[in-house]
Amino acid sequence: MNHPPLHVNLAGIALANPVVLLSGCAGFGEELANIQGFDFASVGAICLKGTTLEPRRGNPPPRLAETPAGLLNAIGLQNPGARYVIEQILPRIAHLPTRLIANIAGSTVAEYGEVARLFDDSPVDAIEINISCPNVKEGGAAFGADPHSAAQVVTAVRQATSKPIITKLSPNVTDIRPIATAAIDAGTNAFAAINTLMGMAVDIDNRRAILGNKQGGLSGAAIKPVALLKVWQLYQVANPHAIPIIGQGGIGSATDAIEFLLAGATAVGVGTALFQNPLIGSEIAAGIAQYLVKQNFPYVSALTGTLQNA
Ligand SMILES: Cc1cc2nc3c(=O)[nH]c(=O)nc-3n(C[C@H](O)[C@H](O)[C@H](O)COP(=O)(O)O)c2cc1C
Repeated sequence: MNHPPLHVNLAGIALANPVVLLSGCAGFGEELANIQGFDFASVGAICLKGTTLEPRRGNPPPRLAETPAGLLNAIGLQNPGARYVIEQILPRIAHLPTRLIANIAGSTVAEYGEVARLFDDSPVDAIEINISCPNVKEGGAAFGADPHSAAQVVTAVRQATSKPIITKLSPNVTDIRPIATAAIDAGTNAFAAINTLMGMAVDIDNRRAILGNKQGGLSGAAIKPVALLKVWQLYQVANPHAIPIIGQGGIGSATDAIEFLLAGATAVGVGTALFQNPLIGSEIAAGIAQYLVKQNFPYVSALTGTLQNA
């Protein structure tokens, strides 16, 4: 069977297919090379682990807790720092036959700008901004919870790089649309949605919060309906500006991925599902190709935002 082409254009970056492996779930790419049968060319892009200016040791253990149909994590952005990633890790992965997206985080607006400036002078194809981090100068509320602080971060990154910027939105807000509008005005080129939902798990035998950090981010199948709604709402704001969305949150099959494309995503992200099956990215890409044939669509982006009753 002759499959329609799977490539998509994500804010000027040509992806071989719409499947993106998500930040924190694919390390810095190198770990995947040890997995039998994994082919870097089988996924459109890999988002690297969240990177801050200085190295971070992360949160105290336990850092993971399984929940019904979900995973809670409180890794705390453990990473070796931007300079180490750029000088030591990127030279080893830059040649891989997929796109690489840096994922940056910070405690202040200035830190985001500084990390973006360092990655601007590196081989990554795009810079994704994780705005779910606490703003230490403004009482610890997440940058992504407020349009003004979200815009400040995007502006600082925009001034620091000419690479495409992907703003990764937090679902922990009443309405994602004003945040998205502020990010568009500040110059974002794309969106990723959603990041994890804040949650908690309790051990009744020991009467303790399970995570060392008490609270963590919920991901996996449990969050998919929330993620779909946020992507659908986001599409209403982003589409008039032709700004693409990497839809994500609980995707574990081609059917899940297609739901996000129909709701308005241009590409789809797979995170937690990789822990069960590291080869799932290529399986999802193959399933999307089959759907295109069956439904007579000429290419992937012909699906984007085509819900018939939206
Ligand atoms: C263990 C773990 C670590 C993560 N680390 C990051 C990170 O460093 N930066 C970030 O933006 N998102 C991070 N995420 C969020 C994922 O990239 C993704 O947006 C989220 O988990 C929803 O997708 P999923 O349900 O397919 O996992 C992490 C998620 C998990 C499970």
